[in-house]
Amino acid sequence: MNHSPEDILKMVADPIFRLIGEAADELGQEAFVVGGYVRDGVMGRPQKNDLEFVTVGSGIALAEKVAKKTRAGKVHVFRNFGTAMIRHEELELEFVGARKESYDRGSRKPTVEEGSLEDDQNRRDFTVNALAIQLNAASFGQLLDPFNGIRDIAEERIRTPLDPDLTYSDDPLRMLRAIRFSCQLGFAIDKNSLKAIKRNAHRLDIVSNERIIAEFNKVMACPMPSKGLAQMFDAGLIHLFFPELVDLQGVEEVEGKLHKDNFYHTLEVLDNLCKRTDKLWLRWAALLHDIGKPVVKKFNDDIGWTFHNHEFVGAKMIPRLFRRLKLPMGEPMRYVKKLVMLSSRPAVLSEDEVTDSAVRRLLFDAGDELEDLMMLCESDITTKNAKKKQTYLKNFEIVREKLKQVEEADRIRNWQPPIDGATIMATFQIGPGPEIGQIKNAIREAILEGDIPNEHEAAFGFMIEKGAALGLKPKNT
Ligand code: CTP
Repeated sequence: MNHSPEDILKMVADPIFRLIGEAADELGQEAFVVGGYVRDGVMGRPQKNDLEFVTVGSGIALAEKVAKKTRAGKVHVFRNFGTAMIRHEELELEFVGARKESYDRGSRKPTVEEGSLEDDQNRRDFTVNALAIQLNAASFGQLLDPFNGIRDIAEERIRTPLDPDLTYSDDPLRMLRAIRFSCQLGFAIDKNSLKAIKRNAHRLDIVSNERIIAEFNKVMACPMPSKGLAQMFDAGLIHLFFPELVDLQGVEEVEGKLHKDNFYHTLEVLDNLCKRTDKLWLRWAALLHDIGKPVVKKFNDDIGWTFHNHEFVGAKMIPRLFRRLKLPMGEPMRYVKKLVMLSSRPAVLSEDEVTDSAVRRLLFDAGDELEDLMMLCESDITTKNAKKKQTYLKNFEIVREKLKQVEEADRIRNWQPPIDGATIMATFQIGPGPEIGQIKNAIREAILEGDIPNEHEAAFGFMIEKGAALGLKPKNT
C-alpha cells in the first residue's frame, strides 16, 4: 500500500497537478483529485488515463482556467451535470463542482445543489472511492480520508460512506458496483452492505440496461468472473436483468437420476477459459454456451436427462438477448452466436470415429473462430474425475491434430469456392437463377465429403457433370 505523505506526493508529481492547484487558487476555490485515481494509486494498481477533480465552486470555471494555462484547446462542457472535460497529453481530466445530491426514489434524476467537499465525499459510493488529495498550494498533497478508506483498502473491504440503504437507494447501480469492485480488487463486501444489497436488490429495476451491462462487463473482464456472478446470484440481482442465467441453476432428480447444475458448471467453464484469454466476447460465449439447456431439457426413461439441440436453441436466443441487454448487435453478437452453435461439435467429433469429412465440415463452419472454439471446448471439461479429464483432453488433442492435417491437405478453413457463380453462368451461358446456387452447393458438398479435391480443375469437371444432370450443356462442346 502506498499512503505515506511521500507516496501521496509521488501520485501528484506530474506538473499538471500543481497547475490545477494554481488555477484553483486564482479562482479562490479549493480543488482535489478524487476517486479511482487515488484509490488505484494507494493500492499500487496501474492507473487509468481518466482523472476526476472536485472543486468547491464551479467545475466548469476551473476547467476553463486550466485549459487556458495548458493551451488544451476545447473544453467539453456538460452543463446539465455541471461538469467539464479537457484533454491533456494522453489524460482526460474531468472537473466537477462539489455537490450535494439527493435522488428521487422513482428515478435516477438527481436534484443537485452546490456543496462542500464533505458533502461531495458523502454522496460517493464507497469509502475506497471517497479519498481526495488536495491540490491548492497551501495544502498541496494532503490526503483527505473522512471515512477510513485507507483502512478499508488495508483490510480489503467494500463499504459505503453512509448508511448502505441510503447509498444504494440513491443509485441502485451501486449494488452491482460493489460486487464489481469486490471481484476486481479481491475485496470482501462489508456485512451490512451485503444485507442492504439483498434488501434493495429489486430497486435495480430503475437502472437502464446500458449502465447495468457496463458494470457486468467489468465483472466479465476480471480474472475470475465467477466470484462476481455468484454474488449477483446470491444477492438476487442477476434475476432482474438476466433470468436466462438463473434458469440454468438447479439440479433435478427423476428416478434417482440427476443432471448437473448448469449454472455452476457455466461459471467453472468461464473461469477455466479466463485463465487462457482476455477476449471479452469469447468469455461471453462461455457464459452462454449452455443457455439453451433449460429450454430443451427432457427426461427420457431409457437414457435419463437429455438436452437435445441445446446449441441450436441457445444460438437462436442470442440476438434477442443481446438486443435486450444492449450488447453490440454486429460482429460480437454474430461471433457469440456462432460459437454457441458450434460449441458441441469438437466433442462430438472426438467421440465418433474422426472422419475426414466431419473434420472438413468443422473447419468450414468454424473458419477463423476455430482456435477460439477449441479453447471454449477444452474449458468445458469440468469433470472432477482426473482419469476422465485426461481422456477428454487427449481426445481434443486428437481432434486438433486431425484438424491440422486436413487443413494442410485441403485448405478448407477460409474456403473460397474454386468455381464461382460467374464461371457457372459463362460456361453454360445462362443468366442468374436457382441452378447457380444448386451447382455451387453441390460443389461445396462434394469437396467437404471428400468426393473431389478442393481444386479448380476437379471442381470444373464436377460442375459439368452436375450441369448435365440439370439439363445444362456447356457452350463450345
Ligand atoms: N461514483 C459513485 N456512484 C456511482 C458511480 C461513480 O459514487 N454510481 C463515484 C465514485 O466515487 C467513483 C467516481 O464516481 O470513484 C468515478 O466513477 P467511475 O469512473 O465509474 O469509477 P472509478 O472509481 O474511476 O473506477 P473505474 O474506472 O474502474 O470504473
